[in-house]
Amino acid sequence: MSEQDRQKQLVGEAAAGHVEDGMTIGLGTGSTVERFAESLGRRIAEGLSVRALPTSEASIDLAHRFDIPLIDWTVTTHLDLCIDGADEVAPDLSMIKGGGGALLWEKIVASAASRRLYIADSSKLVGALGTFPLPVEVVRFGHQATAEKLAAHCPDLARREKGGEPFVTDSGNFIYDCRFGRIDDPAALEAALGAIPGVVECGLFVGMADSLIALRDGVVVTVDGQTDVWWG
Ligand code: A5P
Repeated sequence: MSEQDRQKQLVGEAAAGHVEDGMTIGLGTGSTVERFAESLGRRIAEGLSVRALPTSEASIDLAHRFDIPLIDWTVTTHLDLCIDGADEVAPDLSMIKGGGGALLWEKIVASAASRRLYIADSSKLVGALGTFPLPVEVVRFGHQATAEKLAAHCPDLARREKGGEPFVTDSGNFIYDCRFGRIDDPAALEAALGAIPGVVECGLFVGMADSLIALRDGVVVTVDGQTDVWWG
């Protein structure tokens, strides 16, 4: 197992310890969340009662794999806790997400939760956001025109592809990955991109993370705010 995979396992297992009996949770997307789901599945098999609202079709598959009971929005619009991964986390706990293309559902689910907990291996902790290409979800209608407006903010952009075909999100949209290099004001950029007609959502998660589970000097720690941060 690689060091990165070992870290994903450690933070995933630690996150499962934050789930309490009777909770309704948001179930994130990605390989780190997979380790969380595996650990949560073990706790459920031992008797923990949990219901999960998924953040993607892939997240639904994860729940099925690890026997995590699923709910949808008809059951509740309020979640106790949302647990998800991240592609980059800055020292102010702003993040880039959407490497797996699930940013829209992930943001909707996170915004419905009382507490949002993110899990990340050390490779995700960055001094400033923007090395990871920022995913921007765009409706298919007129996406060429929307991309031109996006290019005014970030000329280095590309429509995401999968297997030689355009990648299509779980909501039927396209994604443009925008290589900013460095994003100094994520909140302002999120607002500016959101104002472009045709942009559904971008992968900037600003002010969303209540806590982060990561590794510091090889030890799993829970960061509950900017004052706990050691990188950057
Ligand atoms: C999915 O769209 C993303 O937001 C994931 O949460 C993020 O890419 C983290 O994925 P990994 O845990 O696989 O790195």
